[in-house]
Amino acid sequence: MSFDAEAPDLRPAHVIVVANEKGGVGKSTLSIHLSVALMKAGYRVATIDLDTRQRSLTRFYENRASFARTAPWAVELPRHFALDHVRGAQAQDNESAEFAAFAEAIGEVEHAYEFVVIDTPASDTYLMRLAHSLADTLISPMNDSFIDMDVLSKVHHDRAHRGAVAQYAEIVLEARRKRRLVDNGLIDWVLVRNRIAALHSNNARQVDQALRKLAVELQFRVAEGLRDRVIFRELFPIGLTALDAIEEANCQLTPSQMTARREIATLVSDLRLPSRVEGANYLEARHVWFESLSSYYRELKS
Ligand SMILES: Nc1ncnc2c1ncn2[C@@H]1O[C@H](COP(=O)(O)OP(=O)(O)OP(=O)(O)O)[C@@H](O)[C@H]1O
Ligand SMILES: [Mg+2]
Repeated sequence: MSFDAEAPDLRPAHVIVVANEKGGVGKSTLSIHLSVALMKAGYRVATIDLDTRQRSLTRFYENRASFARTAPWAVELPRHFALDHVRGAQAQDNESAEFAAFAEAIGEVEHAYEFVVIDTPASDTYLMRLAHSLADTLISPMNDSFIDMDVLSKVHHDRAHRGAVAQYAEIVLEARRKRRLVDNGLIDWVLVRNRIAALHSNNARQVDQALRKLAVELQFRVAEGLRDRVIFRELFPIGLTALDAIEEANCQLTPSQMTARREIATLVSDLRLPSRVEGANYLEARHVWFESLSSYYRELKS
């Protein structure tokens, strides 16, 4: 697959979809930390929760809104949408209703916000596929495990042997094909390693090597994500993250909390998202992003 350098007519908002058909890999955790980080960087952020059953992102922002009511500091909140799964008798009618709700949410935010962060369910649903084809940046968290890799490419007993493209990678490749036809846009697919163990293991090294090989074939980038840290999960009930002013309550940040902040900052930087330049229109940042990523993918291919 190669990308045309001709810049498409980009929509104003940059859409980040966090997805992986594998469950429990950290989609909601990354959606939470990324959306908070972008708001703290001063961007206008909208969030959409497509996980109509678990609603983790929605629950987090409900907790955050409730904390914000009595908080001693200004707590950033996004424009949040929680979509519903439509369960009527006719599948086609359900999809039309889901499409209409999703299109309405996107239509409402695509001109007024700079980033839209979409959390998705682990199951292969109509809404989940629809979100993939809208992604500018697609983030797929995964753990250092060959089981997680197996949804991208069938892991062969001889790991030097290349396996067949697997179900989740097929969804992404199909979304890319559609996207090219619809608006000649590109989907920057970033595999983010999550819950990395503190100690380096032989397994982690092997997964990393296999992933980097697969990156060329399936055209994705690999980003060092977050380590497995309690701070990434313990503040959920109060709607806060390691990025918030928790030192106000704790008095002092622990070294682990400071490292957690650095990890999030490194991840955001590795995502190579469009960034606003003083005095320039945000859409220009989107075009710079497109040029830089399309040349990256051209080189990856050659
Ligand atoms: N970096 C991390 N450090 C510590 N705990 C983490 C980290 N990432 C995720 N977790 C924990 O792992 C579990 C799964 O994470 P999360 O709910 O974000 O995954 P998910 O991919 O959204 O799951 P699902 O597929 O069910 O929607 C949660 O208990 C979460 O708190
Ligand atoms: Mg989730």
